[in-house]
Amino acid sequence: MSSSSPHDRLSSITSHIMGSSNPSVFTAATVAAAPEDPLFGLMKAYREDPSDKKVDLGIGAYRDNNAKPWILPVVKKADNAIHNDPNLNHEYLSIGGLADFTSAAQKLIVGADSAAIKDKRICSLQTISGTGAVHLGGLFLSKFHPQKPTIYLSNPTWANHNQIFTNVNLPIAKYPYFHASTKGLDFEGMMQTLTTAPEGSIILLHACAHNPTGVDPTQDQWKQIAAVMRARSHFPFFDTAYQGFASGDLARDAWAIRYFVEQGFELCVAQSFAKNFGLYGERTGAFHFVSAPGPDAAASSANIASQLAILQRSEISNPPAYGARIASRVLNDPVLFAEWEDDLRTMSGRILEMRAGLRERLEKRGTPGDWSHITSQIGMFSFTGLTEAQVLTLREKWHVYMTKNGRISMAGLNTHNIDYFAEAVDSVVRGSA
Ligand SMILES: Cc1ncc(COP(=O)(O)O)c(C=O)c1O
Repeated sequence: MSSSSPHDRLSSITSHIMGSSNPSVFTAATVAAAPEDPLFGLMKAYREDPSDKKVDLGIGAYRDNNAKPWILPVVKKADNAIHNDPNLNHEYLSIGGLADFTSAAQKLIVGADSAAIKDKRICSLQTISGTGAVHLGGLFLSKFHPQKPTIYLSNPTWANHNQIFTNVNLPIAKYPYFHASTKGLDFEGMMQTLTTAPEGSIILLHACAHNPTGVDPTQDQWKQIAAVMRARSHFPFFDTAYQGFASGDLARDAWAIRYFVEQGFELCVAQSFAKNFGLYGERTGAFHFVSAPGPDAAASSANIASQLAILQRSEISNPPAYGARIASRVLNDPVLFAEWEDDLRTMSGRILEMRAGLRERLEKRGTPGDWSHITSQIGMFSFTGLTEAQVLTLREKWHVYMTKNGRISMAGLNTHNIDYFAEAVDSVVRGSA
């Protein structure tokens, strides 16, 4: 029997335990290093490049003609009004978000006179921007779709789609989208896959200004896409991140979604206000679920809303207020709304000018290749067709930063750097960089 006191024994055990450490569960072997996010890695490399010639064509955020972020004048106005509003506080929003915001967001995307609104068969929740909306939709489909079907993504697509749908365990497949030689839509390939995909598949569709290609179906092609999706009972999942930003016309950029709703599809929409309000960091977005018309539609919609609220509660509890307050002020005030439309035309107009200017410069130089896709593509991005090797040369020798798939953010071009960029492209295409 030991003669030491209980106190001594306890300190001996404690020192024994504290002196040695438990083997770690999360060793470097268990948790491998993740690759850096390519886009954010690119941003970092750009920031660290000391060259005064550097050009940032990577990130999908609007820049003015001086390559500076642009606060929309109408957003500044709404922001001032909010600061001076004595009735505002920092309380939580409800789980579904700011009701004035979600109802206005709903009208904006399906149209104020949509039958889905009149029939009370659309439910909407405010989300953490478009990413949060895509995630909430994916999570809902993964949990509630009785067949848990495959979700088909365009090839290529916004890279985060793959990560988000993988995280919610939805099986993923691709449909052809970009035609490398025409640099336009591979409509035949797309239709072929939509026809042969298992009945009832989920099809993710970019509503306008496809990221990363800038290639959209025509209205006639959308009608054919809808027809095949109807015949095959596919479920449309629309992602809309560029309404009004693409063409400068809010209704035109929402045309495909409104058409599908009119055709009586059951569908969902992930809506971002990052680009069209310049509210990138404020994480302002909405998720909408439209039930198919029918006697039970309103009841199903109410049930769906209740389940979405449970999912939202467990993930973010309730969404952030600031960006939604700004968007809500603008969307619900006819005068501010008209000013917003002017701001949208300013952004989309400058981008269209850059598209025309770049094409004209490359054609004037006789840069080998056909550059008509620069103006036929639409929105923030252009898929230039430059190869990965050319992209690398542009970065190393010319300090021009773009994603390695050859995508450029048109908003990164301006009257000060467009000549330099055209010269750089001309040089790498000729292989003489
Ligand atoms: C196609 C697409 N979907 C969704 C988003 C989501 O963006 P955010 O989460 O910033 O609203 C983006 C942004 O680049 C996008 O291009």
